[in-house]
Order: sequence, then structure tokens, then C-alpha cells
Amino acid sequence: QNPMKKTKDLIGNAGATFVNAFTVTPLCCPSRSSILTGQYPHNHGVRNNSLSGNCSSPQWQKGPESQAFPVFLSKLEYQTFFAGKYLNQYGQKDAGHVGHIPPGWDHWHALVGNSQYYNYSLSVNGKEEKHGDNYGDDYLTDLITNRSLTFLDNRSPQLPFFLLLSPPAPHAPWTAAPQHQKDYADIKAPRDGSFDKPGKDKHWLLRQPANPMTASSLTYLDNAYRKRWQTLASVDDMVEKLVEKLKSIDELNNTYIFYTSDNGYHTGQFSLPIDKRQLYEFDIRVPLLVRGPGIAPNQTVEAPVLNIDLAPTILDICGFNVSLANVDGQSFLSQMVKVTRYVFLVQQCFPDCVCEDAYNNTYACVRTLDSSQNLQYCEFADSESFVEMYDLKSDPHQLENIVKKVDPSVLQVMNQRLIKLQSCQGQSCRETFDISRTNMYENHFQSFSSKAFSFFLISLKSF
Ligand SMILES: *[C@@H]1O[C@H](CO)[C@@H](O)[C@H](O)[C@H]1NC(C)=O
Ligand SMILES: *[C@@H]1O[C@H](CO)[C@@H](O)[C@H](O)[C@H]1NC(C)=O
Ligand SMILES: *[C@@H]1O[C@H](CO)[C@@H](O)[C@H](O)[C@H]1NC(C)=O
Ligand SMILES: *[C@@H]1O[C@H](CO)[C@@H](O)[C@H](O)[C@H]1NC(C)=O
Ligand SMILES: *[C@@H]1O[C@H](CO)[C@@H](O)[C@H](O)[C@H]1NC(C)=O
Ligand SMILES: *[C@@H]1O[C@H](CO)[C@@H](O)[C@H](O)[C@H]1NC(C)=O
Ligand SMILES: *[C@@H]1O[C@H](CO)[C@@H](O)[C@H](O)[C@H]1NC(C)=O
Ligand SMILES: *[C@@H]1O[C@H](CO)[C@@H](O)[C@H](O)[C@H]1NC(C)=O
Repeated sequence: QNPMKKTKDLIGNAGATFVNAFTVTPLCCPSRSSILTGQYPHNHGVRNNSLSGNCSSPQWQKGPESQAFPVFLSKLEYQTFFAGKYLNQYGQKDAGHVGHIPPGWDHWHALVGNSQYYNYSLSVNGKEEKHGDNYGDDYLTDLITNRSLTFLDNRSPQLPFFLLLSPPAPHAPWTAAPQHQKDYADIKAPRDGSFDKPGKDKHWLLRQPANPMTASSLTYLDNAYRKRWQTLASVDDMVEKLVEKLKSIDELNNTYIFYTSDNGYHTGQFSLPIDKRQLYEFDIRVPLLVRGPGIAPNQTVEAPVLNIDLAPTILDICGFNVSLANVDGQSFLSQMVKVTRYVFLVQQCFPDCVCEDAYNNTYACVRTLDSSQNLQYCEFADSESFVEMYDLKSDPHQLENIVKKVDPSVLQVMNQRLIKLQSCQGQSCRETFDISRTNMYENHFQSFSSKAFSFFLISLKSF
């Protein structure tokens, strides 16, 4: 009934479910690069999904990729395995072709280019392997599952292992496995929150879509929603097989499993048919479930965590001194036990969808989030220098832009925090900011307390 049912049982119910997990940039290649490096895009330099925007570019390979977390795992004698989609331009001629194996990986089965389910090429340890469209031989989600099981069977039991399984599902072209093609026949995109609401006081792009949406747009997005679920059903099967295998080789109670995504997605919110790349909750929130030794079952974790926190968390689990890694994020290992708080940035750049891939969807936002407040402040690099601000505590679906309502001094404080975060590096990205000015919020938002709170940056560069 839900394409993540087994995943929720086997990972979430057996461990922690993070209800405030975010990507710092809602676009494939920059987000994946953030996961690999633990850095904000302004530090790893990957701007969009193109080679010219550093997606798997020679500069990326020479710089950030050579210090990504798998390199450290390898030094710690982990047996490392990768299968699936890596970075959108991976394997292209100008990105070193299939012969390029990023450092740190012992077993490498990486998709050339962007998401496919059939008719693709892989780099298998540096050699090209071509696939057609026979389900039993080629369906990529299953192939990733099968090769990971083989890796576990063949590993050396004396040494620890690390696998990164990266199925393209539920990305387009949404080709379901034959046995799942009829699943979820009655499922439609949910009509709640900001679904088909006009983006009237929002930035230029959000003022363009037809509202209400046409019947054909609704049919299109409902189909996309259903097909995404159908492709996820195979990922759910993957999780089940992996957990069974770990159990059978007696490693389940000794292994951490993380389940997450590089981006959120929208289907009809603010009358945008389908895509990501927006600063709103539906695009920047990602699932995050973690199970493993020491993590109590059935936990809900409220603390905000970011995709740049995954690398330091994994290194922390491996006993690596995280302060020696050049990361902007921080380990959330201790948050799976006790809750702390902090702040972040969201950024975004645009490539494949014509309507949303506009240069003027370049933005940077500062987000504050703790138990007493939840604010988002965003600046656009468009011809209007547009600003959006939301109080997500009273307006969780971001329906009302309050920029004209709040005291200008509040905007000024948010603007200063944003400027600071946009150039942060390492420790300065993790600081809980000076809170001495919090009183000014109390004048405008009665619910705000004067307690310390945390910030982060979310941004996207669209040109
Ligand atoms: C977690 O919660 C679910 C649903 O309430 C329950 O069925 C399951 O037994 C719990 N698991 C553990 C390990 O406590
Ligand atoms: C690409 O990354 C390098 C550093 O790895 C950086 O110097 C350069 O500015 C980046 N290019 C773009 C277009 O951001
Ligand atoms: C990606 O970023 C580069 C560098 O900023 C830019 O030249 C290129 O046009 C961008 N590509 C797309 C598709 O936005
Ligand atoms: C795979 O490629 C073949 C040959 O071009 C084509 O006939 C077939 O329809 C493709 N299959 C899929 C699932 O796209
Ligand atoms: C995966 O393994 C199963 C079980 O052995 C097999 O039936 C299936 O054909 C394999 N699929 C792929 C794509 O390798
Ligand atoms: C896992 O279970 C085995 C017995 O099945 C036990 O010897 C081992 O100590 C357990 N490991 C952890 C980390 O709990
Ligand atoms: C981690 O490295 C930092 C920086 O070199 C050092 O100051 C700190 O003592 C180290 N911590 C541990 C636990 O080794
Ligand atoms: C956004 O870009 C489009 C296409 O280039 C342009 O027509 C429009 O005026 C721009 N809007 C703003 C607010 O910059």
C-alpha cells in the first residue's frame, strides 16, 4: 500500500526516523557532491548538473572528489563498494570516460550519465559494460541489489565494509519492474498543503504557472506520482534483500544502514507540475532513516540534519577524527541518542526542466529551526532582487510571504546571517549564531523565545 513499507519496518522502526532532514541544495549533482564531501556548494564548487558547472568535471576530480569521505574509509581499511547513479556527467568523455574510478572505491559499478532503468552503460571497475532492456539481466535497481549481495558474500570477514547503493529510482523515466507496473492503481498526488495554490506573492517563476492547473496537467502529475511509487517498490525490495543478507551473514546487528535521497520533489504544489529546485519544503526536505548499533528502535528525531552531515556522521561512526576532514557539516551520531539544535543554508541551481531551469531561480536562503521557531529568509539573484520570508511555525506550507509585514530590522539580521553563511567554511558553518538580538523577534512574533537557536543555508545557483 506504500512503496516504503518494508523500508520503514526494517530501518525506521528498527532505528531512528529524522523528521527534519534537509538537502542544502535541491538539485541532483550539487546535492550528491555535498553528500560525498560534506561541504556546501560554495565550497565544493559544483553548481549544476553540467560539466561546465563542475558536475564530475576534471576540477572536481582533482579537488573535492580526492578528499571525499570514501577516501578516508579506504585509509581506515574499509572494503568499499559503489553501485548505481553517481554524478550526472560521470563517464562522459570529458569527465575521464568510464576509466575514471573515484579514489576510495574498491568495487565500482557506476552508471554512465543520468538516470536510466534499461539501455545504459556502467563502468565496472573502469571497463564499460553495456545493458539492454531484458528485465532479468538489466533492470538497474535489481542489478544494484544483486551486485551488493555478491559483494557481501565475497568480502573478507576480517575487515569492515561500506556500501553505497544509489538506485536512480524514483527519478524519471520511471520505468517500473514488470511485477510492479500495476501497483498503486488508485494513487494520486495528495491534494493537501500548497497543492494547486497560486504562488501570488512569490518570486517570478512561481507567478508564471496557470492556476488552477489544467486537467491534462493534473493527469500528467498523477501519473508521474504513481510511476514514482512503482519504481520505489523495487527499492523497497532492495532494502528487504539487503537486511536479509546481513542477517544471514550475521552482520545485521553490527551494521549501520542509512536511507535517504538527494532531493525532495513537487507534484502540483503552487501549481508547478513536477520537478525539484525550489526553496520550499517539498523540494528541500528529504527522508532519512537510520538503524544500527546503539540506536534505539522506533525513535523520532526532531533535530534538523543536513545532507552535508552524512559524511562526518559516517566518519564519526568509523572512529575517524572528524575535525581532520575538511567538512562543513557535523556528525549527528550523538543526535540519534540526544537532541541538539542548529542552523543552515539552502542553495539551488537549474538544469533539465525548461520552466524551472531559469537563471532567475538562483537563490540563497537562511533557515532557523528549533523547538520554538522556524523561519526561512531567501534572496533571489533576479532582476527584482526578490525576497521571500516565511514563518513555518504558523504557516507550514509557505502560503504567505511575510517579507512586507516584518520589521525591516528583522530582515536586516537575516540578511547578515545569510551573508555570513554564504562564505562559511568548516567550523564557521557549524556555529550557532550570536543570539543576543533575539529580543527583536519577540516584538514581531510572540511565540519566539529568547533561547539560542540554529541556522543553516539552502541555496541554488541557476546560471
Ligand atoms: C516499533 O513500532 C512498531 C509500530 O508501532 C511496532 O510494530 C514495532 O514492534 C516496534 N519495534 C520495536 C523494535 O520496538
Ligand atoms: C569548479 O570548481 C573549482 C574548484 O574545484 C572552482 O575553482 C571553480 O570556480 C568551479 N567552477 C564553477 C563554475 O563554479
Ligand atoms: C552550469 O554552470 C556553468 C557555470 O556557472 C554555466 O556556464 C552553465 O551554463 C550552467 N549550465 C546550466 C545548464 O545551467
Ligand atoms: C532499449 O533500446 C532498444 C533499441 O534501441 C529499443 O528498441 C527499446 O525500446 C529500448 N528499451 C527501453 C525500455 O527504452
Ligand atoms: C537478480 O537476481 C535474481 C535472483 O537471482 C535474478 O532472478 C534476477 O534476474 C537478477 N536481476 C538482475 C538485473 O541481475
Ligand atoms: C551481534 O550478535 C552476536 C550474536 O548473534 C553477538 O555475538 C554480537 O556481540 C552482537 N554484536 C553487537 C554489536 O551487538
Ligand atoms: C582531532 O584532531 C584535532 C585537530 O588535529 C585535535 O585537536 C584533537 O585533539 C583530535 N581529537 C582526538 C580525539 O584525537
Ligand atoms: C526571469 O527570466 C525570464 C527569462 O529570461 C525573463 O523573461 C524574466 O523577466 C525574468 N524575471 C525576473 C524577475 O528576473
